[in-house]
Amino acid sequence: MPVTDGVTTNIWMLSTSTGTGRQIADFGERPVLMLDMEDADYVITQPTKNSFRAFSKVCTHQGCDVNKVEGGLISCPCHGSQFSITDGTPQNGPAPKPLPQTSVKVSGGNVVTA
Ligand code: FES
Repeated sequence: MPVTDGVTTNIWMLSTSTGTGRQIADFGERPVLMLDMEDADYVITQPTKNSFRAFSKVCTHQGCDVNKVEGGLISCPCHGSQFSITDGTPQNGPAPKPLPQTSVKVSGGNVVTA
């Protein structure tokens, strides 16, 4: 899975792992990473420094995978829905509901499900 350095606090990351207490993203020694979104389960955002949120990557409109995080919004490529990186609520487009959120915490330098 390609990993590149991110540059802002509005990051996103994804992982294939799921389940309570399992690692879903590895920060290593770098505070911000961006991971390939393919085969992932979550979009992870950092709305404020060291405060992380994890959302389902499945758009609540018709189920496409969201594919971009930019300017405080998580975007779906299919019909233009955009969701808040803070609480997943729809901000633009046809999506009727927020992206479901999963509780996460930072543990040992990783973001894990809580
Ligand atoms: Fe995401 Fe339609 S499926 S906007």
